[in-house]
Amino acid sequence: MGWSSWNNFGPDINETLIRDTIDALERRGLKDAGYTYVNIDDGWQRYKGSRADHPLEVDPVKFPSGMKALADYAHSKGFKLGIYSGPGVDTCAGFTGSEGHADADAKLFASWGIDHLKYDSCCSHANAPQAEVQQVMLDMSKALLATNHSTVFHACHCGWANVWDWAGEEGANQWRIGQDISDDFNYPGNREKYYFDVLDMLDRGNTLTHFSGPGHWNDYDMLIIGLDGASKQLVGIGASDLEYRTHFSLWALVNSPLLIGANINNLDAFDMATLTNKEVIEINQDALGQPASLQWSSADNNTQIYARQLKDESMAIALLNRGTSTASITVSMREHLTVPWDVYRMRDLWKKKDLGPYDIPYTTEVQAHEAKVYRVWKVACTVGC
Ligand code: DGJ
Repeated sequence: MGWSSWNNFGPDINETLIRDTIDALERRGLKDAGYTYVNIDDGWQRYKGSRADHPLEVDPVKFPSGMKALADYAHSKGFKLGIYSGPGVDTCAGFTGSEGHADADAKLFASWGIDHLKYDSCCSHANAPQAEVQQVMLDMSKALLATNHSTVFHACHCGWANVWDWAGEEGANQWRIGQDISDDFNYPGNREKYYFDVLDMLDRGNTLTHFSGPGHWNDYDMLIIGLDGASKQLVGIGASDLEYRTHFSLWALVNSPLLIGANINNLDAFDMATLTNKEVIEINQDALGQPASLQWSSADNNTQIYARQLKDESMAIALLNRGTSTASITVSMREHLTVPWDVYRMRDLWKKKDLGPYDIPYTTEVQAHEAKVYRVWKVACTVGC
């Protein structure tokens, strides 16, 4: 859990922004809610152009105190600092990449005290054969391990090739399952132009849940909650408060990293309530690490039930309405969750309300684009326990 600079700021980043973000995460209670990784994305590098022509250095105008000082500041406040590079000669935004320099760059990042590396092959290797992508990711994974400095490794490949087939085994801790997210809940216009909206990401992830587990996660991309209107980096028509809350609920249930993409100072009260819901975050951080999977879908796919087990043997469920009008959804423990619970109790994690106990299936009205999220506990099992 943490923050990343890209969705709102793109390459327009500097040391003041990062320090202010650290301070704001602390001041607004987001650090206490669990958001501790502060990840600098593309745009910190000094040079644009090929690594063959330029060394990899920090831009001295944007980051006059250097990265080590920034990492020290982050650590002094109880945060972790993440950085960005890629295996090409240059990155997606045209800055120098790490091609041919994995060992040296890993050592450089370790010497700064960097805790997380997003290694982005989305542009440089978009059409590269799988074996080549695998090799360049493995090179950096080994290089990071060789530094003996603990670094979370994000093998970012934008859902090209089947990175999930091998990334976890090769030391990656997270990998993107799809193309860049746009600031859209369900908008074909931007989908046609390459981008994945919330529902695209959900559907892609549904086919990949078995790759995700403790220490190696499917990454559904950074959160789009609270971006700064026209000045945001991402394309997209934006979404309603309810749609952003649904996005957050789904990312939490499927165990995606929760990386806020917004300007922390500008998050409004509704965004803050969404991002700091302790009980929803607890599901995301549950030690069993089992992502929610699709249990049932209506014939028209408008209504769906997602569920996952939790370490204390309770379950988390989401009742999702993808359609454009309010719909009724019924969930049966035996039929949809395949647990022999004849009596159960639930807690609505957004209303923060205890429900039940019940001994019949639970039916509720779900608004268009809403996901109702519950934690469910067994009270009694009478048959087939
Ligand atoms: C492509 C990635 O998908 C984005 O998240 C971002 O890191 C950009 N590259 C940076 O250039």
